[in-house]
Amino acid sequence: MPDTMTKLAYQALQQGKSYFGLAHKTVSTQVMQAVNPPKDVQTTPLDIKSLQLLQQRMSALLERDWQDAEAGIYPKELLFDNPWDDFFRFYPLVCLDLPNIWDRFNQGSHQTFADDIDTAGYPKYYLQNFHHQTNGYLSDMSANLYDLQVEILFNGTADPMRRRILAPLKQGLTTAGITEGAKVLDVACGTGRTLSMIREALPKASLYGVDLSPTYLRKANETLTAQPGVLPQLIQANGESLPFIDNYFDGVVSVFLFHELPAVARQNVINEMYRVVKPGGTVVLCDSIQRLDSPEFEAAMENFPTMFHEPYYRHYTTDDLNLRMTDAGFEEVSNQIHFMSKYWVARKPAVA
Ligand SMILES: C[S@@+](CC[C@H](N)C(=O)[O-])C[C@H]1O[C@@H](n2cnc3c(N)ncnc32)[C@H](O)[C@@H]1O
Repeated sequence: MPDTMTKLAYQALQQGKSYFGLAHKTVSTQVMQAVNPPKDVQTTPLDIKSLQLLQQRMSALLERDWQDAEAGIYPKELLFDNPWDDFFRFYPLVCLDLPNIWDRFNQGSHQTFADDIDTAGYPKYYLQNFHHQTNGYLSDMSANLYDLQVEILFNGTADPMRRRILAPLKQGLTTAGITEGAKVLDVACGTGRTLSMIREALPKASLYGVDLSPTYLRKANETLTAQPGVLPQLIQANGESLPFIDNYFDGVVSVFLFHELPAVARQNVINEMYRVVKPGGTVVLCDSIQRLDSPEFEAAMENFPTMFHEPYYRHYTTDDLNLRMTDAGFEEVSNQIHFMSKYWVARKPAVA
């Protein structure tokens, strides 16, 4: 397919995802208002200027996604990588689960797990129904629905936002003189979306993923096994205490983790990333924008934890992760913003 056609196809796919996400949210909100209206919830509607800015930033994100693919940072096929099987299998279940979510929302019940789920051994801060998810991160069903729920939340831009870690990661490896066979770790790899992108961008790399959720790791294993390429090593572990020796990885990444951690855990994870990355190695983090850099989206950042159960988000939006990274020992900490995500790129000092 000529490039203009490919670009048009990509734009059409994203447009479709965006309309789908908006339609899903509009219809589900109307049904919720009719059958189980939320009690005592105060949210601030976004003004027209913020909505226009959001639209501009989304277009800029998609343009950047295309440009990075054109520049060969990852293959263009990645732009079309969509788990359609999962969509058709699990979208009806996403809808069927909504009444449970509304019930928990209205009852303010945020730490509810089915009796057959073993909650022993996890940090207390983790045992939450984040986003009002049924059984938090601890059931197979949650793992099956998660990617779809996130895509709907972000109107189809979750993957383009994840892909923004690939350019700085590759750049960092090149600067360190690593051309092949890099060792790269994804902390809180969830269902493996980011690992599968890194595998496309760095086909010769040895990949590792850790996550606290055994069911998300099982899902990641299933998905990554079904696709070609060397299988990443997946390990159940807490990012605060990584099961690796010092100075082992050339690159460490993490996507959408830090807003779900309390402050102390955020610092512990950053310290651990510093420990396991080699001198001269690169760390790239991606998470929500913050009040520090995006005051124009104050209302959106205020509404998010009100509507979705995100107990650590408000503090996260004011937390200076640049400072946390330099405190850990990183240097050359820089930031980027793409749509609703912020990125931290940092280097561990090379040994003199
Ligand atoms: C919002 S999800 C992000 C998952 C994935 N990185 C993505 O891009 O979708 C947060 C993930 O962090 C994991 N998690 C939360 N706290 C953790 C911790 N202390 N150590 C390891 N994983 C953790 C959860 O199990 C979940 O998979």
